[in-house]
Amino acid sequence: MSTVAPAFNNLRQSIADFSVAEIAKKFGTPTYVYDMATIEKRVADLAAFDVIRYAQKANSNIAILDRLRRLGVVVDAVSVGEVKRALAAGFSIHGDTHPIVYTADVFDRAALEMIRENGLHVNCGSPDMIDQLGEVCPGANITLRINPGFGHGHSQKTNTGGPQSKHGIWIDQVDDCLRRADLYNIAVTGIHMHIGSGTDLEHLSQVCGALEKVAMNVGRTLKMISAGGGLPVPYRDGQEYVDLDQYFQLWDASRKRLEAHFGHKLSLEIEPGRYLVAESGYLITEIRAIKKMGENTFYLLDTGFNDLARPILYGSYHPIAIAHQTPKRHAPELDVVVGGPLCESGDIFTQEEGGFVSKRRLPAASVGDYLVMEVAGAYGFVMASNYNGRYRAEEVLIENGKLHSIRHRESFEDLIRGETIPAVS
Ligand code: LLP
Repeated sequence: MSTVAPAFNNLRQSIADFSVAEIAKKFGTPTYVYDMATIEKRVADLAAFDVIRYAQKANSNIAILDRLRRLGVVVDAVSVGEVKRALAAGFSIHGDTHPIVYTADVFDRAALEMIRENGLHVNCGSPDMIDQLGEVCPGANITLRINPGFGHGHSQKTNTGGPQSKHGIWIDQVDDCLRRADLYNIAVTGIHMHIGSGTDLEHLSQVCGALEKVAMNVGRTLKMISAGGGLPVPYRDGQEYVDLDQYFQLWDASRKRLEAHFGHKLSLEIEPGRYLVAESGYLITEIRAIKKMGENTFYLLDTGFNDLARPILYGSYHPIAIAHQTPKRHAPELDVVVGGPLCESGDIFTQEEGGFVSKRRLPAASVGDYLVMEVAGAYGFVMASNYNGRYRAEEVLIENGKLHSIRHRESFEDLIRGETIPAVS
């Protein structure tokens, strides 16, 4: 597989053969669009792994989950809600490779109750979870999520390893966990490590060795090892894909060494979120105002960090392209700041970590033209909110030359659902 990143263009008239303007007119703006063909390619890239377990937190729309299930992908769930999403998309609780696994560092009471009732497989990220599960499901099989003592992510906020992270069981506590498991006749059938999101091959590669050591310690109850997620995708020119062949070979070699040691087969899982869906997604917005503030020109959109929170949260960079209402092949370019409608000055899409506003070289545009935020399929809609009383966006799937709405734009009824005004006494 090529590791060269695509070249991003700041003019875009279409997405998978549909004109941006046509999609915008049909569904309104802002609208998230996902191209199924891209998701299919990304699943195919990972075929060497025995099990692809999708970290649905990246994009948990049930239509996406359904399509991934049909492609043979299984899922990870981090809450009762995500388990129920997976069930709604046709996954079952029980099956060869555990179609749904609950991965967390805590059981809230609702999750523990659900697991007591349905026996869902659990990947425990804290020693206390073993005792709590043992009380309600003695004799269960579990996986341990281990924090190897180091981690790395695209931002310090997405680094899930090392002593500053709350995630996983600290590598020195494995023996204690095995003792706890024995008390409840619980067998540890898998080891899992996820060191962070949006990391790189250098850091990912260090995980295999750390996992091997823990696996040797756990012993012959093991049936599965998981490489976790974290695969990066290119968000800007010059960034590259991870060499997946090389990555697989590293893990396969670890797996084979463990198999030789235990004398039985081990299944090798990978748990990507971003890699499967990020590049499929586009957020189509409309430019609603253009204004000059001193030296700066602002394009102000009908979408803000309520729809795409990554720039304000992490200073994340998303490729941005203009789709003119009347297509233009060329337009003069200028440096602009791109912002949203929210009543908060941090509502800027072109910002760096720390909130420093930056500019983007974009084609000249007018009010009424469209602006597309790209590589927005992961951690986009799922992190959207109703801040400032805004309705969450429509989601649309492009599949086999058709546009399907997979989530309607919210309405005022959605906005106030569950709220009540108590009678004045
Ligand atoms: N497995 C576990 C246990 C995780 O915690 C995560 C991500 C993944 C897999 C998937 O990681 P991925 O392959 O997507 O890198 N909101 C942030 C990302 C947070 C990731 C949380 N956990 C962002 O927008 O970049």
